Amino acid sequence: MSLHLLHQFPRLELLGAPTPLEHLPRLSDYLGRDIFIKRDDFTPVALGGNKLRKLEFLAADALREGADVLLTAGAIQSNHVRQTAAVAARLGLKCVALLENPIGTASENYLSNGNRLLLDLMDAEVVMVEALHNPTQQLAEQAERLEAQGFRPYVVPVGGSNALGALGYVECAQEIAHQSEGVVDFAAVVVASGSAGTHAGLAVGLEHLLPQSELIGVTVSRKVEAQLPVVERIRTALAEQLEVQAHAPITLWDDYFAPRYGEPNEEGMEAVKLLARLEGIMLDPVYTGKAMAGLIDGIAQNRFRREGPLLFVHTGGSPALFAYHPSV
Ligand SMILES: Cc1ncc(COP(=O)(O)O)c(C=O)c1O
Repeated sequence: MSLHLLHQFPRLELLGAPTPLEHLPRLSDYLGRDIFIKRDDFTPVALGGNKLRKLEFLAADALREGADVLLTAGAIQSNHVRQTAAVAARLGLKCVALLENPIGTASENYLSNGNRLLLDLMDAEVVMVEALHNPTQQLAEQAERLEAQGFRPYVVPVGGSNALGALGYVECAQEIAHQSEGVVDFAAVVVASGSAGTHAGLAVGLEHLLPQSELIGVTVSRKVEAQLPVVERIRTALAEQLEVQAHAPITLWDDYFAPRYGEPNEEGMEAVKLLARLEGIMLDPVYTGKAMAGLIDGIAQNRFRREGPLLFVHTGGSPALFAYHPSV
C-alpha cells in the first residue's frame, strides 16, 4: 500500500526543505535513553511551527477557489493563527482571526505579547469573541459578513485540522521515514495532540512507513474519551482521501495537560526548562512542554511498548513563552 496519491493534491511550496531530525545527546544522557527530535519548530515562516505543513495544502486550496481572505480562529496566543496570518501575508491575502481568551486571564503579556504581538505586525484583523463555543458556525457567520463586504473568504478550520491540512503530516512522516532509514529504529514517536491534524497525519503516514514505531499522542486539551473520536474522524477522512487503510490502534496519553488547555503546569514548565538548559531548544508552555513532560514520564513509568530510541516531534510554539511570562 503506498501513499502516492499525496502528490496529486495541489500544494504551495512554503517549506522549501525537510526540517532537521537531530539526536539530543545531553538530554539522552540525562534520561538514559536515546532521544531524537524532529525540528518542525524550524519551519521557515514567522518563527516556525507545525501549521505551515497544513497551510501548504489549505492555502493552495484557497488560491484555487480565488479567495482573498484567510479566515480562521483560535486562542489569543494561537500559534496556528500566527502562522495563518504569515501565510496570508506571503500570498498578499487579508487575514481575519476570531480569537478567544480560553483561560480568562487579564495578564498584559498574554493579551498583547507573544503570538498576539505578531498578529498586529502582520496586520491581521482580529475579532474578539467571548468563547469559541461553536467555531465552525462562528467562522461561517464571519465568512458571511466578509462576503457581504465583497470579500472572498476561505475558512481555515481551527488548527488547520481537516483531512486536507493533515496531508502535511503524512508528508512529515515521509520525511521521518527517509531521515531515519538505516540510521535509527524508533521505538516510539511522541507528538502533542490538540485539534489532531498533526497526530492524524502522522498516524496515517507512520502506519505505512514505520509500522514498528509506536505513535503516542499526548493530549493538550481533552481526556482520551473526547480526543479519540477527534483523531479518528480526521484519520478516517484522510485515509479515504489517500485511498489507504488506517487501522492501527490510536494511543493517547491524557495525564499531562491538567489543569486545562492553555494553562501551564509544573511538569510542562520543568520540561521547557530542561530542554532549554540541556540543549538550547525552546519548547512552549501549552503544547510541546506538556508533550515532553509525557515523554519524560513515559520513560520513568515504563509506558513505551519497547526499548530503543524515541523521537519527539517539536511542533513549535516558542513565541508563547513571552506571553506566559512571568505567569498567567
Ligand atoms: C506548538 C503546537 N504544537 C502542537 C499543536 C497541536 O497540533 P494539532 O492542533 O494539529 O493537534 C499546536 C496547535 O495549535 C501547536 O501550536
